[in-house]
This record gives sequence, structure tokens and C-alpha cells, in this order.
Amino acid sequence: MSRRLGVLIAIVALASGALLVSAILRCQIGTAVAIQNVPNGLWLGVLFWIILTIAGSSLAVRMPGGTFVDVGFAPIVAAMSLGGPIVAGLAALIGATQARELRRQVPWYGTLANHASITGPAVLSAYALSMVPRSNPSNVWIDFLATVAAACLFFSLNTLTTAAFVSIRDGESMSKLVRADAGAYLNMLALAPVAWLMAQMYLSAGWWAVLLFAVPLYTTRLAYQRFVEVREMFTETVKSLAEAVDKRDTFTSGHSQRVQKIAMDIGRVMKVSDDDLEALEWGGLLHDIGKIGVPDSVLLKQDRLTREERTLMNAHPVLGAEIITPVRRLAPELPLIRHHHEWFNGSGYPDRLVADEIPKLARILHVADAFEAMTAARPYRMTPLTPEQALAELRKYGGIQFDPDVVDAFIRTKWGRELPDPGRPEGREVPLIGEAAGSLAIAGQAPSAAASAIPPAAASADSASTADPSRQRQATA
Ligand SMILES: [Fe+2]
Repeated sequence: MSRRLGVLIAIVALASGALLVSAILRCQIGTAVAIQNVPNGLWLGVLFWIILTIAGSSLAVRMPGGTFVDVGFAPIVAAMSLGGPIVAGLAALIGATQARELRRQVPWYGTLANHASITGPAVLSAYALSMVPRSNPSNVWIDFLATVAAACLFFSLNTLTTAAFVSIRDGESMSKLVRADAGAYLNMLALAPVAWLMAQMYLSAGWWAVLLFAVPLYTTRLAYQRFVEVREMFTETVKSLAEAVDKRDTFTSGHSQRVQKIAMDIGRVMKVSDDDLEALEWGGLLHDIGKIGVPDSVLLKQDRLTREERTLMNAHPVLGAEIITPVRRLAPELPLIRHHHEWFNGSGYPDRLVADEIPKLARILHVADAFEAMTAARPYRMTPLTPEQALAELRKYGGIQFDPDVVDAFIRTKWGRELPDPGRPEGREVPLIGEAAGSLAIAGQAPSAAASAIPPAAASADSASTADPSRQRQATA
């Protein structure tokens, strides 16, 4: 556990404890929570709602963002409505116990964080609800709206606190975590009216009538699980696809995952938005998906490629974009896949974009792709470059093949931080070679022919580096 996480857990736990103690000292238990016509009905009522919350919490579902949701939320809100801050606090504190905690799968500070992040918000929301005059039975709408509002407050506070814990633990941004689970959160808020209805049934028909809600609550829980399963299936499918491409060539096994990591680190240094970071995450994995359509005889060839073979290889960004186009969820990744071989000076492919015309994320991916390729063995270069040599190549071809700003950012990541930096080349006119390539294009030359008019440059995923002159190939695939 990091120090920051420890401090945050301690603050939330102390605040939640103080809120619950102050509720016990200052408030009275709402008599509406009592089970009528039985001895000790008040305490039995409190016990009933605690047990119901335990039942709901025992079926927690892990969301993709790393937080857990369960339907114990509904009985806590009902207990809040009936019994006020003390009952809400006790139901949250005791009832939030999850099966994985009892199985000792959660460290002590994790258990403390879980209970603190639910108890404090429950007591605070119950306080807010208790300020609304709801005693007039004829105005049922005020009671309903106040309960739903308190439920929203409770859920929002709980979500933000939990997201803050996970954010510090995993180093992810809070907004990304909240957005990752947004669909499930909306479902969860739909439980607020159900919670109000549970309280009304408890009052009008008795405790047994509340048990009828077990079916819709269990169905809701199944819906969360389904949501998570579908998302995980999508994630795993995308990873398998990327792996399938990498594994066709033993030399590129794991390449996409490493490119993904480097690209995301550069993105973080460049402070791209969370959406862009997610695009780098998926785009990094899928950037070479178009190689599915490149024949083995070309993809695995160890000798120099012929012009026809090079054309086939160079078609993979366009092919990749075409493969991904029908998947609407991957629309933000399309520009990365299509343009990850564009050169900063305009002599790349497939569209020969120049400098800022190339999407920023594609420029980031290009640097990550090249660094990974240069530092890994390839059939045409069995001895990979050292990271120092690879960085020298990135610097040397900054402004030609690579965006110099992206190379600057790369140097500030963990991949480049420790390496000796040769600095940006001086006196380079950019885009010098783009002009040459552009004039060739105007003259009607094919892109591969245009590329052959430029000096050999640093490596990409399937091209040799200038550091190995015996096997120089154009960095065009
Ligand atoms: Fe590629």
C-alpha cells in the first residue's frame, strides 16, 4: 500500500467513524424502522435491514474500472429512509461486508476502505434526508423525491471515494474509472425508486413484503454481471486478435502489447485526454491488425522484399482500418491504425500526410512502434539495437520520420529517461524530404517509388534500421 493511499484511507475512515459516532450521540433511531407488534421490534427492524444489506452485498460484481458494485445499495437507502442516520450507518458498516472479505481475499486496509467509503456517505446522505420534512403522509411525492435525491448523493459520494482509492492504487485517472463503469452506475441509480418502494412496502404491508424485492434485485445483479462479461469478452477478443497477428511471426510475439505500453506512457507525458489515452490503448494493440491480410510468404520473408511484396506489406494500415471500420466501438482508433506509418516529412504511407496533418496519436504510436521494433530481434537483424542506439535513431530521424515533439516526450517516459540523449539534430529544414516526395507524387510516381527516393531511416515494426547497413530496408512497413 502506498503512503498516499494509506493517508486517504485513514482520512476517509476517521471521517466516516466520526459521522457515525456523532449520529449515535445526537440522533434517535427512526421509529418507522420498527417491526410492529413484536417485542424489541425496533432492534429487530434494524437487524432486518442489516441482514438484507449483507445479502445484497454478498453478491458483489467487479466492474471493469476495478470498483465493485452490489445491490446492497437498495436496502441501505430504504433503511436510511425508515430509520435515519444511525440505521443507515449501521446497515452500511455491517451490511457492506462482502463474501470475499470473509474469505480473506481482501487485505485489512481494503476492508477498511470499503466499509469507510460506504458508511460515511450513508450517514451523510441520511442527515441530508432527515432535514426534509416528510412526516405528512398526504405528500408522498416529497418523500419519494427526497429519498431518490438522498440515494443519488449517497451513491455519488460512495462512487467518488471508491474511485479515488482505485485511482491512487492503480495510477489511473479518476474520470476514466468513473466513465468506465458509467453504464452500470446508471443502472444502480435506477435502484433508488426501488429502495423507496421497499420502504413503503415495509411500512404498509410488513417486513415479509420486502422479501418480494429479492427477485428484481437479483435480476439487477445479473444485469451487472452480464454488462461486465460482455465488456470483458470484447477486451479479450481484441487482445486475442492482436496476439494472433503477432504470433504469426515468432519475432513479433508480444510486439503490440509492448507498443501499447510505450505509446500510453508517451501519451501520459504529453498529457493527452483520457479518451485519447484509451484510443492509444486499443490502437496500440490493434495497429498491425491489417497484417492478417498479408501473405506469410511476404510477412515472414527474411530476404529483401520485392516492389510488389513491399506494396502488399504497405497495404496493412489501410487493410487494418477496413477490418476495424464495422466495429463502432473502435471508431476512435481508426486514424491511429490507418496513419501509424505516416512520416513527419510526408514521405510515409498510405496518405503521405505531413507534420500536423498526421493525427497526433498516430505520431505517438509511430515513435512507440519504431522504438519497440528497433530494440527487438527481427529476422533481418538478429541482434537488436540497444535502447541507447534506438534513441539515437529516433533523434536522428526526428523531423524526418518522427515528430520531434513526440521524441522529446518519449525521452521523459521510463523508456527513455535513463538513456543518454543526443538532442535534436540542428539545422534541419523540415519537411525537406516531404517536398521531394511531394514532387514525385505530382509527377505520378507510386508511393513506394517516392519512398525509395529518400534516405533510409529508423526502423518500424517490420523494417531494418540504418544501424544495420548490411540489411538496409526502407522504413515503410
Ligand atoms: Fe504497422
